[in-house]
Amino acid sequence: MSGPLAPGSMIGILGTGQLGRMLALAAAPLGLRCATFGPEAEAPAHDVCAFHVCAPWEDLDAVRAFGARCDIVTLEFENVPVAVLDALAGVVPLRPGVRSLALTQDRLVEKRFVAELGLSPAPFVEVNSLADMQAGIAQLGLPAILKTRRLGYDGRGQVLLRSGDDAAAAWDAVGGAACVLEGFVGFTAETSVVLARGADGSVAAYDCPQNTHAQGILRRSTVPGPLSPDQTSQAVAAASAIAAALDHVGVLAVEFFLGTDGRLVVNEIAPRVHNSGHWTIEGAVTSQFEQHIRAVAGWPLGSTALTGAGAVMDNLIGDEAGQWLQLAAEPGAHLHLYGKSQARTGRKMGHVTRVSAPRP
Ligand SMILES: Nc1ncnc2c1ncn2[C@@H]1O[C@H](COP(=O)(O)OP(=O)(O)O)[C@@H](O)[C@H]1O
Ligand SMILES: [Mg+2]
Repeated sequence: MSGPLAPGSMIGILGTGQLGRMLALAAAPLGLRCATFGPEAEAPAHDVCAFHVCAPWEDLDAVRAFGARCDIVTLEFENVPVAVLDALAGVVPLRPGVRSLALTQDRLVEKRFVAELGLSPAPFVEVNSLADMQAGIAQLGLPAILKTRRLGYDGRGQVLLRSGDDAAAAWDAVGGAACVLEGFVGFTAETSVVLARGADGSVAAYDCPQNTHAQGILRRSTVPGPLSPDQTSQAVAAASAIAAALDHVGVLAVEFFLGTDGRLVVNEIAPRVHNSGHWTIEGAVTSQFEQHIRAVAGWPLGSTALTGAGAVMDNLIGDEAGQWLQLAAEPGAHLHLYGKSQARTGRKMGHVTRVSAPRP
């Protein structure tokens, strides 16, 4: 791809969820249009895109036809099959590239990659059998968490092991899938670096929030977060090294544990816009969504400065989205609903952000 995408260009998004919806909403003020591809007949991104193609990921002819209608293709979902990305090669430029996905779709590959960069992942062991798990427990101790290597999200595909007796049940619960066993990290806080990397290698990172989770799902992100200036520099340097090693273009997020000893442990990498960056829509000068569009379109990155003293973003999970009318009536509460018709338990239905006023 040579030069920046001109206004009026079409950006194809692989995936049709709320992240795609917010990307398309952020592209519109820049005069850029979006289209989505995914297997869902009804999806959050459809309402706000110029067109959508509904086809299974296996339909590579449909993938190529979609790519041919776009000026560039990006993604909002990291589990897009690599075959889909390969099919687009030579049809349309793809940002981020295949490497960003290939290395982050598999927790084991990702953890080895993080360790090879000289960073600290949570202690882990590869598990392909119950015997591996027992050996892993002996090595890592308990509690430990069994995680499927692929396709886990929002705490799904994970089982907490408190005692050795839980091993067989945990192995059953994951259906004998290829896994990693992780030692439980004692942490005082969780945080994340959300950054954008341009095609020219320029990097812009946001403030690191404090992220609180319940049942493996993000509940709240709060800025300012828990890191000292020194720890912030370390976290941003680590995330920047990861983005550079992937030759990533676009937004990327790295989740960290702040260990009880003050050290930063890399939890996981998301090669896309991230839930812990939703506060940036109102809390930062340029939102993570606009920033991703800017990066993949070859535009200059925008300012990541705060618009106020900080921000608090709360996810609306399951029937919490039923509070929409009260939230809409609350001055200064920025309500986002994702247009999902069914409020299933544990499903992210929307979020609300409150920005605190700048200090006088
Ligand atoms: N090794 C660990 N030690 C302590 N807590 C963990 C560990 N792994 C996961 N968790 C908790 O579970 C949450 C979700 O796990 P994560 O690996 O980030 O999976 P997901 O892909 O579902 O976000 C984390 O944010 C953290 O709160
Ligand atoms: Mg996570």
